[in-house]
Amino acid sequence: MATSSSSSHQHQRARLRSRAAPLFAVVVLAVLALTAFLRASIREGGISPPAASAADRAAARNHTIAQRKILLDPSFTPRLPRQTALSLSLAQRNALPPRNAARFPSLPEGHLKIVLYVHNRPRYLRLVVDSLSRVDGIDEALLIVSHDGYFPEMDEIVKGITFCQVKQIFAPYSPHLFPDSFPGVTAGDCRDKDKAAEKRCQGNPDQYGNHRAPRIVSLKHHWWWMMNTVWDGLGETRDFDDHILFIEEDHYIFPNAYRNAQLLVDLKPEKCPQCYAVNLAPSDVKAKGEGWESMIAEKMGNIGYAFNRTVWRKIHAKAKQFCSFDEYNWDITMWATVYPSFGAPVYSLRGPRRSAAHFGKCGLHQGHDPGNVCVDNGVGAVELDAIDKVANIKPDWPVHIIRKQQGYQAGFKGWGGWGDRRDQELCLSFAYMYHVKDPLSA
Ligand SMILES: *[C@@H]1O[C@H](CO)[C@@H](O)[C@H](O)[C@H]1NC(C)=O
Ligand SMILES: *[C@@H]1O[C@H](CO)[C@@H](O)[C@H](O)[C@H]1NC(C)=O
Repeated sequence: MATSSSSSHQHQRARLRSRAAPLFAVVVLAVLALTAFLRASIREGGISPPAASAADRAAARNHTIAQRKILLDPSFTPRLPRQTALSLSLAQRNALPPRNAARFPSLPEGHLKIVLYVHNRPRYLRLVVDSLSRVDGIDEALLIVSHDGYFPEMDEIVKGITFCQVKQIFAPYSPHLFPDSFPGVTAGDCRDKDKAAEKRCQGNPDQYGNHRAPRIVSLKHHWWWMMNTVWDGLGETRDFDDHILFIEEDHYIFPNAYRNAQLLVDLKPEKCPQCYAVNLAPSDVKAKGEGWESMIAEKMGNIGYAFNRTVWRKIHAKAKQFCSFDEYNWDITMWATVYPSFGAPVYSLRGPRRSAAHFGKCGLHQGHDPGNVCVDNGVGAVELDAIDKVANIKPDWPVHIIRKQQGYQAGFKGWGGWGDRRDQELCLSFAYMYHVKDPLSA
């Protein structure tokens, strides 16, 4: 711009500026409003700009609050079992605020929520909690421990956590809380390969002729109850739209896991727009990673996976497929029915070295069975190199996409164990219990 020495010119310009100022402000506001509108409509289309600002996030939140009021299928009425005294008292505990909130009063923008789901392997849980205590950034997180059943020793271990905000939730409809009624075992239930008509017993066999076993169905019920409760039920998380990281009681978490997860979450929109999630470890649970200088996109794994509310909505919309597929493992159900129904490969982004490791040798169906004690304290299962102690993913790395992979996929018919209509209905009830029934259809 040319400068003028003329005082009258300057005077004129000053006046012009003072008159232009409100006009200028109006234009700026209009442009801001327009870009906000455009971003919102881009988001409607499922594409998100690389770095969302706090204002974008606030606007997006309004959008998802509307989405949260999901209308039930009018032909389905959610029905939950009558609770026991124990399950009612646990449901009350679920409403308690997180512990350690005074010590960690504010969770920073961009933090992750972490959900650790557990059953009854205290030796394992101790190891996992110990690993979490050394995770860089864990003090920024809210840790939610979701229990399948009530086991005092597990409760005590979680109560001992001092390194971050922590909240416990207990699945109030866990088969483990119902000693003599559904979802536990009911008198008159068929067992194994009983013929219902001959034996006059209750239940629908699975595709292989076997009847339900509460200990076996409890895992899929717990996972589904937890997902629905964390995303759509709990006050601490139901307005949270960003990534929630899910880990399990036999996943050893490396010190760099939290910072690596944040890096992956930040890099995902730009580096791998087709990725639905991020993972802390390869989908092959025994693999340690390739050690390449690149990120890797591959099929979703089940060790340390994190996704946001948009992805949860897509999963939740497939509740019927999830709940009716005759397969008792939640992860195989996802690979064989839910992900294939999305219409595109469901990739997850991860680093070239794992930040979490599965260490358990005892299966969930063994560890606590007195007749079949599986002794394994997990010690020595995981060795850490120096490079695993600090964030080790580089933003300028390319992404290597693994397109063809072995494993469960569309077409797999399931291992069974999930043929009883009562389990399928309870599962569907979990999907709808926090949502509204269409008043017009009532
Ligand atoms: C969210 O919606 C409410 C009610 O419609 C409105 O008053 C508020 O300004 C909106 N907030 C944002 C950040 O868009
Ligand atoms: C959530 O993640 C998906 C998959 O990465 C992405 O397409 C979507 O835009 C994200 N949603 C928000 C609100 O950031």
